[in-house]
Amino acid sequence: MDYKVADLSLAEFGRKELSLAEHEMPGLMEMRRRYAADQPLKGARIAGSLHMTIQTGVLIETLTALGADVRWATCNIFSTQDHAAAAVVVGPNGTVDNPQGTPVFAWKGETLAEYWDEAEKVFDFTDADGNKVGPNMLLDDGGDITLLVHKGVEFEKAGAVPGQDSTDNEEFKEVLRVLDRSLKADPQRWTNIANGIKGVTEETTTGVLRLYDRFKEGSLLFPAINVNDSVTKSKFDNKYGCRHSLIDGINRGTDVMIAGKTAVVCGYGDVGKGSAESLRGQGAKVVITEIDPICALQAAMDGYEVKRLESVVDHADIFITTTGNFDIIRVEHFERMKNQAIVGNIGHFDNEIDMAGLAKIPGIVKDEIKPQVHQWIFPDGKKVIVLSEGRLLNLGNATGHPSFVMSNSFTNQVLAQVELFTKTEDYPIGVYVLPKQLDEEVARLHLDALGVELTELKPEQAAYLGVPVEGPYKSDHYRY
Ligand code: NAI
Repeated sequence: MDYKVADLSLAEFGRKELSLAEHEMPGLMEMRRRYAADQPLKGARIAGSLHMTIQTGVLIETLTALGADVRWATCNIFSTQDHAAAAVVVGPNGTVDNPQGTPVFAWKGETLAEYWDEAEKVFDFTDADGNKVGPNMLLDDGGDITLLVHKGVEFEKAGAVPGQDSTDNEEFKEVLRVLDRSLKADPQRWTNIANGIKGVTEETTTGVLRLYDRFKEGSLLFPAINVNDSVTKSKFDNKYGCRHSLIDGINRGTDVMIAGKTAVVCGYGDVGKGSAESLRGQGAKVVITEIDPICALQAAMDGYEVKRLESVVDHADIFITTTGNFDIIRVEHFERMKNQAIVGNIGHFDNEIDMAGLAKIPGIVKDEIKPQVHQWIFPDGKKVIVLSEGRLLNLGNATGHPSFVMSNSFTNQVLAQVELFTKTEDYPIGVYVLPKQLDEEVARLHLDALGVELTELKPEQAAYLGVPVEGPYKSDHYRY
């Protein structure tokens, strides 16, 4: 078995944490109980790219319990938990000397070049006869492996990969390097891979946005299930998950007292709502920035001040971006910040904060306090602390969302994989969300663990509302 992780000897620790997590992931464990005998994913070769955490370990082992063959990379250079990666490679029945689990290609602190080299490896399956084959399913978070396939096909059709000097984007230079190498080795590699893919299930807001864009422009190559917009994903993971893991990241990174400080949260979508509550819960004075009048009004009526960044940048203490947009905190903002202001991002990509611009300020010095915590020292001596180099701080400085909320997200992932793999013909190229019955089912699977007593609808009440007794209880346009 091929794999690349930091240290296999961490597997025993990882296994212990995996078994703790299993207890907190009732949805995933129910998927195993219900479907392991039927093996609905037998024959599925799933290429996965999603933060290689303990919770993801439980997801991977659920997919394999349902019959899938899986290869996995992370979707972020800082988010891997090395003990989780080791435990998944060793597997529940293997040993460090004889790993029998799932091939994982991830470690904490990859370079960008390593990241894209490892991402490519999830496509290299071997069939029962020892032949090299591609995956037939993708499971993506943020769309990076979906991008590799689409760009690969695009460049194969064009007959060449553009030179690395065609872009200023350091990350995209690596994509071009990897695709150039693969196209030279096999001019049909990505076309063959794309033809074999039944579909992709996408985890997050940013990846989903890329899929809808591709579908609109007519370039989407296979069907996709938008897992993010299951209610039991975005209204839970994005909100309650970030409410837990945002301050975890700030605390582990800086140990600064949050109470009494002024914290600015840029964006008041699902992630922003959880983040703002997280900081308010610590006693911070929270200020929101928004471009959408509906979200701005929500923030105001939730009791937050809503301001432009320019109005608060010189007196706030903590700045968190949650927009999924780019260019939110720029050089002109850094220049006006207080000494020892803390800046971090919890949106998917690192371009919410202009890190490249920060590095180019004449005379600025980047000083590492510890991995994923840097102070940037301006020529006049002022320091600004940046967490996780502008990448997802809840996964870079802490361990991401806790298991229980991820059980909701990942139960949707498993259902989406089974749906696309077993009912491929029902899904022509397009972007879909899971049916509401399944969404309600995911929630149902998590009620007992919290001691929830669900009230049962009487048949007359169901008739009065015009819904079936067994659900679904809401129309598709209901917003929760
Ligand atoms: P969303 O679309 O619900 O919220 C984003 C909000 O930012 C919107 O309300 C939008 O109006 C606002 N916004 C956009 N441009 C802005 C600007 N220039 N200034 C101020 N506000 C602006 O998206 P969601 O689900 O909250 O996700 C946000 C990001 O977080 C995405 O990149 C997503 O992939 C990522 N994410 C990260 C997680 C984590 O664990 N760190 C978990 C889930 C999602």
